[in-house]
Amino acid sequence: MSNYHIKHLEEYYQIYRKSVRNPENFWEEVAEEHFEWRKRWDKVLDWDFTKPEIKWFQGAKLNITENCIDRHLHIRGNKTAILFEPNDPKEEAQHITYRQLHEKVCRFANVLREKGIGKGDRVIIYLPMIPELAFAVLACARIGAIHSVVFAGFSSTALSTRINDCGAKMVLTSDGSFRGSKTIDLKGIVDEALKSCKSVEKVLVAKRINSDIHMEEGRDEWLQPLLDVAYSDCSAEVMDAEDPLFILYTSGSTGRPKGMLHTTGGYMVYTAYTFKNVFQYREEDIYWCTADIGWITGHSYIVYGPLANGATTVMFEGVPSYPDFGRFWEVVEKHKINQFYTAPTAIRALAKENLGFVNTYDLSSLKVLGTVGEPINEEAWHWYNDHVGEKKCPIVDTWWQTETGGILISPIPFSTPTKPTYATLPMPGVQPALMDENGEEIKGNPADGRLCIKFPWPSMARSIWGDHQRYKDTYFSAYGNKYFTGDGALRDEVGYYRITGRVDDVIIVSGHNLGTAPIEDAINEHPAVAESAIVGFPHDIKGNALYGYVILKETGETRVKDNLRKEINQVITEHIGPIAKLDKIQFVPGLPKTRSGKIMRRILRKIASKDTSNLGDTSTLLNPEVVEDIMQEAL
Ligand code: WT7
Repeated sequence: MSNYHIKHLEEYYQIYRKSVRNPENFWEEVAEEHFEWRKRWDKVLDWDFTKPEIKWFQGAKLNITENCIDRHLHIRGNKTAILFEPNDPKEEAQHITYRQLHEKVCRFANVLREKGIGKGDRVIIYLPMIPELAFAVLACARIGAIHSVVFAGFSSTALSTRINDCGAKMVLTSDGSFRGSKTIDLKGIVDEALKSCKSVEKVLVAKRINSDIHMEEGRDEWLQPLLDVAYSDCSAEVMDAEDPLFILYTSGSTGRPKGMLHTTGGYMVYTAYTFKNVFQYREEDIYWCTADIGWITGHSYIVYGPLANGATTVMFEGVPSYPDFGRFWEVVEKHKINQFYTAPTAIRALAKENLGFVNTYDLSSLKVLGTVGEPINEEAWHWYNDHVGEKKCPIVDTWWQTETGGILISPIPFSTPTKPTYATLPMPGVQPALMDENGEEIKGNPADGRLCIKFPWPSMARSIWGDHQRYKDTYFSAYGNKYFTGDGALRDEVGYYRITGRVDDVIIVSGHNLGTAPIEDAINEHPAVAESAIVGFPHDIKGNALYGYVILKETGETRVKDNLRKEINQVITEHIGPIAKLDKIQFVPGLPKTRSGKIMRRILRKIASKDTSNLGDTSTLLNPEVVEDIMQEAL
């Protein structure tokens, strides 16, 4: 029996038990058999959740790109590593083989080195879903630079906040991007962001849309001419297993985004292991994850996990609705996709459209379907199962987070019987716990509580960049000696987990993780706004949408309210990005507050979701009368 590839349910349970009884042995075996290390580790695991400090494979040396590229060259040199499908279906797809990937990454890495980037330097990558994005990520890893990909839908303010937080020396971007029928001026956004960033010395620009852009003398350079003259081979920097690999920002429930810091060895082992098992990837398969590399899903399950397994991974530049709602299925047919991984929000959006968009295409190549990012509702699950999987493809509902680096709870297809809306069972090595209101672990089934993880797994984030105290406070202080996920969950009679959603002030909109505080901060910048509170409410397609309660400075406001609503959304777009726009904005005379001045979001949430039959105890409020006012004018 190989620990690396689970093939049936009894094997899962056997391996799981072994992984929990002796996690060090388990991960050591996986690490030993399936990866190339320049030097072996001295110790498999060292951990202390009170500090918190987590070290996997201490003393080991490696370079992750040698595991993702070089070691495949002998056996898979001519196999497609990255299959690029452009935004416009009329533009030809590109098949980039492992050999070509090696050359592209080496050239790119040499350019970075030549421009003064070295081990430990931070490089911001603000690129659309074009092959250069994957090359950029891997080129950084090749030379030990820490990449921080910023999703190219974020605004200039969001970009500059991230650049300044990590003190990046370089930005990699493109002239612009295609998005359906539109183009976006990415370089213009970078120029705007850099007005408030001192650390950036160089900007390298890929050409994608051929737009006329400003190039800042001495700072900006076109990427392609540099790549053309660079060496096609590049020695890999030898990294310690615990050296940083990347920083990826995620919203927190308060204030600034959190730069989750991921390290090299454990991240590689865990993402490769889970990719293999969760998608049951076989050598000839074509795997497609529709996420953007700007999110953790893209890092772990478009780039690192698949490439570490020598897989063919699709990079899709487009959107599901362009040129029409059949695009996903057209691509599945065209490239004979075997594993397809997307988000519930996309499934819900497509399920609303005519079935003809699905039925026209031959989807018989599909073997496994995946979902991630938010709870999938039963209706969407069945639509996916019936019309896309034609009832023959297991659905893997994968639960995880930016912080976890890899999938923690998911069925293993063809082994774990699936159950709609349940992420089912923990991956080997993952030890979940449900906690009650008193902070005690709930033993036995069924159970309903807050989801924690009791023991380290190799791909967990090691810190928040520049703020280790915040890492400790956010994840390790609510429940002593456990990692707290921020999610609520149920566990059924057989031990299957169902994630019920966030229990903090993070709202998941269309699969994007949004903190309420940064949005409120943005709104409050509007000169007419005195105070605001954001909550989520259920939405058919997005899962949740945002409802804003806004107090205006002057009650005798003469401006038309609709204009103000537009302006508020404009401010949000500028500060965060269009994904954080509010669906509903209600102007209110006040906000319900506790005596200590905390906004009672529980009440606002109920009003926003039109569930006002039982508002709970409002007697502790400072201003209970305001609740009635808000209810009367609710949207
Ligand atoms: C939050 C993490 C992991 C990549 C994408 C999101 C929610 C994620 C599921 C799922 C129910 C899910 C959780 C989690 N979530 N997957 N299968 N079922 N909820 O990463 O942006 O860091 O968000 O997404 O609430 O805490 P993220």
